[in-house]
Amino acid sequence: SPIRLADYRPPAWTVARIELEFDLGIDTSEVHSRLHLHRDPAQDAPLRLDGEGLELLAIALDGQPLDASAYRYRENVLEVDGVADGSVLETRVRVRPAANTALEGLYLSGSRERGFLLTQCEAEGFRHITFFPDRPDVLTRYTVTLRAERERFPVLLAGGNPDGAGELPDGRHWARFVDPYPKPCYLFALVAGRLEKLERDYVTADGRRVALVIWAEPDVIECCHYAMDALERAMRWDEQAYGRNFDLDVFHVVATHDFNMGAMENKGLNIFNAKYLLADPDTTTDDEYRAVEAVIGHEYFHNWSGNRVTCRDWFQLSLKEGLTVFREQQFSADMYSPSLKRIDDVALLRRAQFPEDAGPLAHPVRPSQYSEINNFYTATVYEKGSELVRMLAGRLGPEGFRRGMDLYFERNDGRAATLEDFLAALGQANGIDLAPYLAWYGQAGTPRLSGEGHYDAATRTYTLTLRQHTPPTPGQPDKRPLPIPVKLALFDPDGRMLPLHEGATEQVVVLDTQEQSFVFPGIGRAPVPSLLRGFSAPVILDYAYLPAELALLLTHDTDGFNRWEAAQQLAWRAYAELRDGRGHQALAVWGDTLAGLFDQATLDPALLADLLTPLSEVELAERETDVDPARIHALRQTLQRELASRIGAGVLADRYRALTAQASDALDAASQARRRLKRRVLELLVLLDAPAAHAFATAQFERAATMTDRLAGLAVLVRSGAPQAAGALARYRTRHADNALALDKWFAVQAQIPGEPALARVRALEADPKFTLKNPNRVQALLGTWARGNPSGFHRADGEGYRFLAARLAELDALNPQVAARLATAFNGWQRLEPVRREKARAAVAGLAEQSLSRNLAEIVGNMLKG
Ligand code: ARG
Ligand code: ZN
Repeated sequence: SPIRLADYRPPAWTVARIELEFDLGIDTSEVHSRLHLHRDPAQDAPLRLDGEGLELLAIALDGQPLDASAYRYRENVLEVDGVADGSVLETRVRVRPAANTALEGLYLSGSRERGFLLTQCEAEGFRHITFFPDRPDVLTRYTVTLRAERERFPVLLAGGNPDGAGELPDGRHWARFVDPYPKPCYLFALVAGRLEKLERDYVTADGRRVALVIWAEPDVIECCHYAMDALERAMRWDEQAYGRNFDLDVFHVVATHDFNMGAMENKGLNIFNAKYLLADPDTTTDDEYRAVEAVIGHEYFHNWSGNRVTCRDWFQLSLKEGLTVFREQQFSADMYSPSLKRIDDVALLRRAQFPEDAGPLAHPVRPSQYSEINNFYTATVYEKGSELVRMLAGRLGPEGFRRGMDLYFERNDGRAATLEDFLAALGQANGIDLAPYLAWYGQAGTPRLSGEGHYDAATRTYTLTLRQHTPPTPGQPDKRPLPIPVKLALFDPDGRMLPLHEGATEQVVVLDTQEQSFVFPGIGRAPVPSLLRGFSAPVILDYAYLPAELALLLTHDTDGFNRWEAAQQLAWRAYAELRDGRGHQALAVWGDTLAGLFDQATLDPALLADLLTPLSEVELAERETDVDPARIHALRQTLQRELASRIGAGVLADRYRALTAQASDALDAASQARRRLKRRVLELLVLLDAPAAHAFATAQFERAATMTDRLAGLAVLVRSGAPQAAGALARYRTRHADNALALDKWFAVQAQIPGEPALARVRALEADPKFTLKNPNRVQALLGTWARGNPSGFHRADGEGYRFLAARLAELDALNPQVAARLATAFNGWQRLEPVRREKARAAVAGLAEQSLSRNLAEIVGNMLKG
């Protein structure tokens, strides 16, 4: 039975302090805990603690061992009789780290001989370690003592400040950590094993000396320098942008290759998936460097937005995640380029979140019920959640938002808060009622915004009429109008911005009813509106622009994001023309405008690369009914070939050579931009002149000074079926044989082969000795890339892709339910497939539903069939 937001009750029992002692071992570890308990006088409930898969060895209340009749451990709950306010409950349990393939709770990363032990508790992993009220509104002071064999586990870490260490008999040793900040148990962490470190001293703006320590296995410790620099940048940035300082004497960061998610913000002991921490010029692409910096920032920023102020319950997850993604996006924008960052983020939102909102898994940013909370670490909670914070920030302006955030942190420090608390603080600091924005948190689905402009020459007024409509989503048939801030500018036909209110050239209008008109006086000529600038609200805009008007925005808009948006709109219209066989008007405007911009010296090469990229196959599928992914792929290729031919093979080849001549291994924005454009040019050229492009790609692959260039060359060869592809793959494999992250890219690039041949390749790669279902990154690289990132490869007309994935999901579910459930979302959107595929996908999902599945996978599969 699902857990509901409406059923929230404060905890009947809380834990003021916990003393935890671990005797660590690979096969078995013992956990001794002392809970200092407090009863809520308003409630009269027995003590009930969460505990899953724990072998109870001893139990005592207030120093007295308990008789078996005084407690019951069943169905993952330990119920104890006779507990009083102020009682101390002691338990000793045994857990089995090496057998833990779910990677939740205490587990082993790497091999038994050389691997290390670590924990992952969010959301509900702590109950796999010891008995505890495993809910985020129980805030507790932790004292943690770790004991282990010194030779096998020389490094012992837990969150908080170090509080002593020493030797024990029999080659064992101990270390103690005390965390002065009360925290929910999902922020508990420990790490034990043979790890190396990088260390740096840091002094916070408010004068605290902090030791920053990054830990990794010996073979990769040298790949942590970039992360250390990024961490320091993130800490400085949070001091300056939000006035937030770090608050412990030591900050540990650990890299692991075995991790279900990206990273985890455990208090004082962040743990990272290696793919978001390790960076090295020979194996890390530019995009990955930026991702490392972003995730380092994200986890660090959680120290305030998540840890000092945490969530009352898991329905409030976006309180910390949406807010922290927003802070991370601001940080990345400041470190790099605001408009390129915005383009990346909106592209991600459209690729990952819009399909979620449009399908059977749709849920509000604050869901109202769940059966397995791990299924709600979604693009909706994270990315759409960030968009909601962005709207609030936009409404308040930079100073007002900062004022509001200061009040939010001040009022809620040390508390488990709600989204209401957040909106109240932001609003009250500014004397503005933000309550209408709460509706965004409770309503699923992407609003459609349609606009219509009318120019009246006689009165020199321009009237913009906006309308909104949100289609129904599962369980929410009727939608309310939401406040939609539309940032806009008006351009005259020569591409100049018109002055609006009080001489400003940009203005925000808020549509908060179903339909509203906005009148702009004193407009001399019929303008072209630039709407939703910077993507000021997460909606789908429909405005009947003429192709020439989009070309004007694409050429002249001062908002880099909206230039790209104009290119996307044009590409969409060009695509629709090709699909429907009705003329080439938009196609010509799109291709010719981009061809015209191609040689413009002032245009940032990275922005040009993005302008030259039409919307993804996933986004195209979103806009169609009776989806045929093979046809979409073919049409998108045709579309790009048309673009390439309007630019011209000669021009593309010249640009490619010029960019190659400028190649370097530098990481600055300009060098990254050139590599991004070079890849895009090569991808276009291969559609016109494959032999020439294959020769370029082969040379690039062989001589590349960076992983970005090497992988780009390889990807072009592999995806276009070049004769040189097999040789290049073999050389890559040999070169990077011992590097897990580089090998992941080798699997992934092959999982992207378009169309029917993909499945045979995936099957062959599964048999590779380096493939394993036990490593989440490897599973994502091969099965995830294929099923979730390669629509024409996954959606075979014969349904073989669906049957294959369903079989793997069942197998994976037995090992790691979280990873299985995430992979299963590949089936999202099956209801909108063309009838033949639809029936085959349905049958595969229904077949899965009949098996005995984890709660994680059962919920995804069940929702998938309901919607
Ligand atoms: N709080 C982490 C982050 O976003 C994500 C951890 C989620 N883990 C999980 N198993 N659901 O930084
Ligand atoms: Zn997070």
